Amino acid sequence: MLWLALLALNVCLCSAFDNGLGKKPQMGWNSWNKFGCDINETVILSTAQKMKELGLLEYGYEYIVMDDCYALKQRDPVTHKIVEDPDKFPNGILDLSNKIHDLGFKFGMYSSAGKYTCAGYPGSLHYEEIDADTFANDWEIDYLKYDNCFNEGNSGTAKISYERYNNMSQALLNTGRPIFYSLCQWGEDHVWDWGSTLANSWRISGDIYDNFDRYDDRCPCETYECPGLQGYSCSINNILEKAVPLGQKASEFSGWNDLDSLEVGNGGMTTSEYKAHFTLWAILKSPLVLGNDVTGMSDEDFAIVTNKAIIAINQDGSRPANRMWKRKTEGGYLHLFTNSLNNGTTVVTLYNSGDAVKDTTVEFSDIFFGDKKSAAKSYTFSELWTNDTFTAEKKFKTDIGEHSVKIWWLDCPEEYCGTSEDNSKRFDFEY
Ligand code: GAL
Repeated sequence: MLWLALLALNVCLCSAFDNGLGKKPQMGWNSWNKFGCDINETVILSTAQKMKELGLLEYGYEYIVMDDCYALKQRDPVTHKIVEDPDKFPNGILDLSNKIHDLGFKFGMYSSAGKYTCAGYPGSLHYEEIDADTFANDWEIDYLKYDNCFNEGNSGTAKISYERYNNMSQALLNTGRPIFYSLCQWGEDHVWDWGSTLANSWRISGDIYDNFDRYDDRCPCETYECPGLQGYSCSINNILEKAVPLGQKASEFSGWNDLDSLEVGNGGMTTSEYKAHFTLWAILKSPLVLGNDVTGMSDEDFAIVTNKAIIAINQDGSRPANRMWKRKTEGGYLHLFTNSLNNGTTVVTLYNSGDAVKDTTVEFSDIFFGDKKSAAKSYTFSELWTNDTFTAEKKFKTDIGEHSVKIWWLDCPEEYCGTSEDNSKRFDFEY
């Protein structure tokens, strides 16, 4: 009996999810936002080659993730494996995977915890073992995005969804290959409560759309606590409101809230809106996964996604930003966020989602709420988009443009806010 009890204890101790990955939000590129189903080996490979040439790998963008629509509509009738579409991948997916690895990137793929993927290709429900084996051993992938379409009614409670996603989690672990596991369950069934026990990250909303704040009936939920359809066509501000209260569920020990791939470079927003989008995703510790055509990227968009200081904040391993206040303004809100980084420094972000320029005063008692000692000190503020600096104590005044962010690192380490050639080059761009 004792050995049974010990075995149970052992199983219990070993069952916390740890595949050695996800200590920081993942960074990379995903094909869906820009290319949808128009993918093939040329699209994926030319993206990887261009990302290498642009140095994006060195900035941390390491996963190249191929989303839906790579397969034939039918599984192999004998092996029951998913089969790659030979028209799209004449050299096969393993060849593509090898080439991506040779460039120094990691390779990611997609499936759904349903009978079909969202675009109607074979899904992995009830085929978890076979598919995990194909992904790990036939195609040598390093990342799986796992969707929620056609789940045959296996949803509606956390337990049912947990079991469906856990089957793939276990199957991936059983392959022995480290595979980053990224849930795409759209925030249903309180995924933030159980995602950390079987995966590295979890989507918290319906699909992102390249739009700042447009209302859309196809994305009917306004908050994370939503009984209805999560849908798609969700604006940046819609996803932001869902993500902010869920920050407390994310950490280097559990995993990350996924606010969906970035839209920077896809053309639907202004430069200042894209800077806001990138900054907010970074401080909320969302995965930073590019979703544009990097082969035709403008210098401005490149400068946005390669802001080293903001990437460093995202990759710091500390928890997501807290929102310290939100104040109504014309056509939107002023929001104050703070991040406490692992080295003890603080980042302050002011975000104006409204339609007019605003003057505002920020009190240190709000930045350091509940910490009078820190609120009493003086700090040097370095703004991470303009490189402007000032020193202040107790409070500071600033103005902030419509649909804009300002983000200051207080007592910023020299490597991020110094005057290195790299930084000054970055700040040459006019916004
Ligand atoms: C959606 C998912 C998208 C994309 C798409 C592919 O459910 O949220 O990110 O993967 O399916 O069909």
